[in-house]
Amino acid sequence: MSLVIKEITALAKLIIKSDNTIILTGAGMDTESNIPDFRSKSGWWKNVDPMTLASINALKNNYNLFYEFYKERIKLLEQVEPHKGHLALKELEDMGFVDAIITQNVSNLHSLAGNKNIYEVHGNIREIYCKNCHSIASVKQFLAGPSCIKCKTNSLRPNVVLFGESLPKNALDFAIESISQSDLLIVIGTSLSVHPINQLPLLATGKVVYINLEPADQTYNFYLTIEGTAGDVLTSLVHKVKQHI
Ligand code: APR
Repeated sequence: MSLVIKEITALAKLIIKSDNTIILTGAGMDTESNIPDFRSKSGWWKNVDPMTLASINALKNNYNLFYEFYKERIKLLEQVEPHKGHLALKELEDMGFVDAIITQNVSNLHSLAGNKNIYEVHGNIREIYCKNCHSIASVKQFLAGPSCIKCKTNSLRPNVVLFGESLPKNALDFAIESISQSDLLIVIGTSLSVHPINQLPLLATGKVVYINLEPADQTYNFYLTIEGTAGDVLTSLVHKVKQHI
């Protein structure tokens, strides 16, 4: 039996036994839906410095570049859909084996896949508001131009957490509480490079399993590490869970 299948079978048995399973996902969960991640060789930050585009400073002092960057990211999202890995997580939630998904992703793909209990700790790129008058705008208005129809200033922005901004309190509080009480935390498709989310696995009192294309650094001391794509690992995991229940 290949090592990965052995580990997937071990994870399936952990999921069946667990009373409280939390999923933590990152951009690697979305790459099979053709959305680049950030730090792989084809990631967003390989060609641009995130501080010049995705920071509170960029919003204040480089608004046109900021607007063009997010306009490009939102347009990309118009053509993507959840992949088999997202659908596998939906199936596990339907079967009662996933209690919540905490995601760093702003793509909304977990809800498009049909998962219900989702906490977006870095916000949601499809939610638009005016940074000047705080009125809500639509994605369509944002794509048509940066001007707010209410206050007429070029101030529309997506509701995503920029570098230098604090995370949404409710989502972060839930993430901290649910992970510290979980029997099992499954971390999928994240390099765990960004604070404070990269501290969450260290709060887990139960077992922590890491599913990723590349290994994470040793500090995490994961109970299990499964190297592979989210799509393949998660679909095979659902298959193994069904075999063992
Ligand atoms: N399956 C599994 N893992 C994958 C896949 C895949 N199909 N594709 C990529 N990966 C892995 C990469 O090897 C990498 O380790 O996913 C990880 C993605 O890491 P990052 O690109 O750093 O993304 P993430 O960890 O989500 O970044 C966190 O940084 O810039 C901010 O706000 C941004 O939320 C993001 C945060």
